[in-house]
Amino acid sequence: MSVVVRAPEAADEAAWRQLWAGYNDFYNADVPEEVTAHTWRRVLDPASPVFGLLAEEDGRLVGMALCVHHEGTWSLTGVCYLEDLYVDPAARGGGVGRAILDHLVAHCRAQGWTDLYWHTRDTNATARRLYDSYVAVDDHVRYRMELD
Ligand SMILES: CC(C)(COP(=O)(O)OP(=O)(O)OC[C@H]1O[C@@H](n2cnc3c(N)ncnc32)[C@H](O)[C@@H]1OP(=O)(O)O)[C@@H](O)C(=O)NCCC(=O)NCCS
Repeated sequence: MSVVVRAPEAADEAAWRQLWAGYNDFYNADVPEEVTAHTWRRVLDPASPVFGLLAEEDGRLVGMALCVHHEGTWSLTGVCYLEDLYVDPAARGGGVGRAILDHLVAHCRAQGWTDLYWHTRDTNATARRLYDSYVAVDDHVRYRMELD
């Protein structure tokens, strides 16, 4: 089956929300509706640094990535943070995740951004197998303060 990766459109909202809900479940996260709605609005807003990619297989949305482009102090053109990556469980293992990442890498290169980076849990062996095939993990650790 061939996978098409493309930018989201307004008509994708319901299908995207299903993927987003699955992703939230994966992380046992309870994202408030106002945040979900705000995220989707930003995905569709060309002026927002948030952007998304959707993967379609046989006309059905089966995967998504959400990213943030931001400036960086170590580059002239900015960098890209891959915040979320999710593939419908029924479509996993068929190259959808790789197709999304390949598309994202090509997009970042086309924009002239200097870095693409992301995090995942060190226990997420499945995702890490995919990620390890792109680049070796580096030696940074993450510090995070919840402020509200
Ligand atoms: C991680 C995830 C996005 C991978 O998506 P996918 O469509 O199944 O990945 P692919 O089919 O493109 O697999 C790519 C590679 O990952 C590895 N992989 C994927 N699923 C695997 C599995 N169940 N067992 C072993 N390796 C696996 C393989 O190395 C595979 O390599 P290949 O292309 O040489 O076969 C998907 O499993 C997912 O959504 N998981 C839940 C959410 C998550 O963990 N997101 C990432 C963290 S933020």
